[in-house]
Amino acid sequence: MSSSHLQLTSNPIVAPQHVHDLLGKLHQLSLDQEKDISAQRLRQKAGFDDLMRNKFIALDQDKCWFVYQTCLSIKAKNVIEAGTSYGVSTIYLSLAVNQSLKLQGLQSTKENGKVIATENEPEKMEQSQKYWKECGEEVSDLIELRKGDLRETLSKDLPEKVDSLLLDIWSPLALPTLKIVQPNLRPGSVVITDNIVGSADRYKDLIEYLNDDNNGFRNITIPYDKGLGVSVYLGKQ
Ligand SMILES: C[S@@+](CC[C@H](N)C(=O)[O-])C[C@H]1O[C@@H](n2cnc3c(N)ncnc32)[C@H](O)[C@@H]1O
Repeated sequence: MSSSHLQLTSNPIVAPQHVHDLLGKLHQLSLDQEKDISAQRLRQKAGFDDLMRNKFIALDQDKCWFVYQTCLSIKAKNVIEAGTSYGVSTIYLSLAVNQSLKLQGLQSTKENGKVIATENEPEKMEQSQKYWKECGEEVSDLIELRKGDLRETLSKDLPEKVDSLLLDIWSPLALPTLKIVQPNLRPGSVVITDNIVGSADRYKDLIEYLNDDNNGFRNITIPYDKGLGVSVYLGKQ
């Protein structure tokens, strides 16, 4: 085989087989729902919140792998997820924190590192916890689910040093969330924003903020579907 056919193993996630199987199933469920969303919108003339109430809208699998690799490479201990839904990306974040703690010779306990998940839809909160339990303690023990509007639930008791923030939330909430978490972001932390290209119009305020050198971020856009923003925080300039 010539070297042009060589590829790196494509799935970097360290997890038991039943977790891989569950993640595969949940990504597929999410994709199947998304195909139907515009049709439903027309049929039901449903408002955005009603339509999304029972939708996964999970972060795409390739993006989840990237987020996992990023958390591992910065040895993330404390991660915040803005927008948890049924907890798919949360599973990746928790697996990453778990690996990252192991790399640092630390025990996998919430005192050493955790994922703060945020959701305000009661049914999603309940079901996500069932999925995490199904994954096992390796995943569920490192997740702290904050229930309710994240503008309130993230406004207190954040870890002193946050290593990463995943913005996978309705676009008007992204900048307010970043501003709430920013005082606790450590220099070298990474903020990841989903759909930064696909939702550029709706993210206008966030993009302007991240691009303003005075706010301390250095940004790139990764060309995944609809774009993934990756912003490294250097600290307030
Ligand atoms: C794109 S989905 C998150 C998907 C998730 N990260 C995943 O990969 O599975 C965004 C979620 O944010 C939730 N959400 C919207 N507004 C919120 C708010 N004010 N506080 C907390 N969660 C909110 C929605 O209910 C929705 O489930």
